[in-house]
Amino acid sequence: MDYGKNVFVFDHPLIQHKLALIRDENTGAKEFRELVEEVAMLMAYEVTRNLPLEEVQIKTPIGPAKARMISGKKLGIIPILRAGLGMVNGMLKLIPAAKVGHIGLYRDPDTLTPVEYYCKLPADVNERELIILDPMLATGGSATMAVDFLKEKGVTSIKLMCLIAAPEGIAAVHKKHPDVEIYTAAVDEKLNSHGYIVPGLGDAGDRLFGTK
Ligand code: URA
Repeated sequence: MDYGKNVFVFDHPLIQHKLALIRDENTGAKEFRELVEEVAMLMAYEVTRNLPLEEVQIKTPIGPAKARMISGKKLGIIPILRAGLGMVNGMLKLIPAAKVGHIGLYRDPDTLTPVEYYCKLPADVNERELIILDPMLATGGSATMAVDFLKEKGVTSIKLMCLIAAPEGIAAVHKKHPDVEIYTAAVDEKLNSHGYIVPGLGDAGDRLFGTK
């Protein structure tokens, strides 16, 4: 299925298997957290596939060798609070040098529009290539607002990584920010009248942190 330019759906069997367990209503908070972290780590592997490499000279115990290391802009990861936090450790396991910035947004339950309550970003954020983390791309309001903030700060390279996206969320983000690459493990059917993704996985924040 083609969801348009700049949308990448990861169909790796490990990602899909773990996503099925994540979606299952019988999966408890501990296992849910572990699985979200594991999927984020697997997705980090794919999201970083096109990072530029440069040749470096190193010395092995046997002798000199040419090797390749990541070059170009440094990376930053930006979880949208609070559910995005569940993906941070998985990303950091593969990209330990990435700086982490936080953007706190909540959805007004009546209007379903995002409201900012916290923002703390790395000082050199505009020099970094950023990956926004939010497991659920639902209406797209929070993600669009997060991209707005980051672009206002001079950031020019932004990717968005989620577990499940709704078609409405993809359309909303790309309407305003067609340059943002969206990486997701699944694109579900639709949103319901409360702004939840159908069939989705429920409330990602509640399931991560055991609140309800
Ligand atoms: N946020 C969630 O946690 N779940 C949804 O389905 C939509 C938004």
